[in-house]
Amino acid sequence: MIVFIALTLMLILPLCRSLQATIEWLQHRQAQQQHRPALTLRVSRVRRQRRYLQLTLVATDGQALPPARAGQHIQLFGTDAAGQQISRAYSLAQDCLHSHFYRLVIKAETGGRLSSKLFDTVRAGDLLQASIPKGHFILKRSRKPLVLVAGGVGITPMLAMAYQALRQRRPVTLFYQARTAADLLFHRLFSRLPGLHYVPVLSQPTPDWLGGHGRINSVQLLALGGRQATYYCCANAAMTAQLSSDLAKAGVTLHYELFSAGATQQSCLLQYKDISADAAGFSSVLDALNSAGAAIPSDCRGGSCGLCKKRLIKGEIIQMLDPAAPLAAGEVLTCCIQAKTALVLAD
Ligand code: FES
Repeated sequence: MIVFIALTLMLILPLCRSLQATIEWLQHRQAQQQHRPALTLRVSRVRRQRRYLQLTLVATDGQALPPARAGQHIQLFGTDAAGQQISRAYSLAQDCLHSHFYRLVIKAETGGRLSSKLFDTVRAGDLLQASIPKGHFILKRSRKPLVLVAGGVGITPMLAMAYQALRQRRPVTLFYQARTAADLLFHRLFSRLPGLHYVPVLSQPTPDWLGGHGRINSVQLLALGGRQATYYCCANAAMTAQLSSDLAKAGVTLHYELFSAGATQQSCLLQYKDISADAAGFSSVLDALNSAGAAIPSDCRGGSCGLCKKRLIKGEIIQMLDPAAPLAAGEVLTCCIQAKTALVLAD
């Protein structure tokens, strides 16, 4: 009997290992394919509002596009002013039930390598290379009341989530932080969306503004949503970190995605192979190292693709964004971290 079991194990174990290796290879291949241009999309509509570019993209053959889930993004591929290949992720700002177009809102960031170029140059009829919709920041099915919190251009995935949740007849409250009334994207739409409780909050309102003033805080959120609601947020790092920690004290989890980590002012030496960089002035370790010539591959810049993964040999980090890609002990996603001390990284 023992001999029989030993022989069976000898046969089965190598088979299991090769099956596991095949699964890993397929997953790796799928991940790589996800981060290559998979679609050629035609720009059917362009709208510029202050520093925001709104694009409606359709398939070149007019057919339906790959489906998206509320909260997901697509990657746009292009070249920067120096001719270097780059890609950036932009959330879908639409009811994802519509499958014949993708709508994006792109903020032309100062020094943004792709956003500024698109803002300055893109025209209706242009063709853009894009990925299929992807990303783990998605609205999960639930019957619970939903509280959405957006800061600035972080409103885009919230728009998709609001549509989906309202269709599922969930009570939905949307808090939207902006500087001035002119910075509120989709303001008219949200004001009239049936069933939506819309709470715009301005940090620099004019005297005639009748909505909320100041900064959104956890007391306001809990007053309307309570502890039983589900909370989603897309905003900058400072706003997200504050709300996340304040809500956690009340026992409430904030699901979030950052649209911008904000550049750190702290000077820290970063070391990767023979490349040295200073972290100051960059929003992530990835950006700091790549600007010094490290050529670390990246795609989503949001913790989901895993391409920017490195081993942290030495130093302390600030985790700006929760990684969705799997990590082994000692590994970090360089797009998701800033340096707290000098860092040494390796492959
Ligand atoms: S670039 Fe995708 S996880 Fe860092």
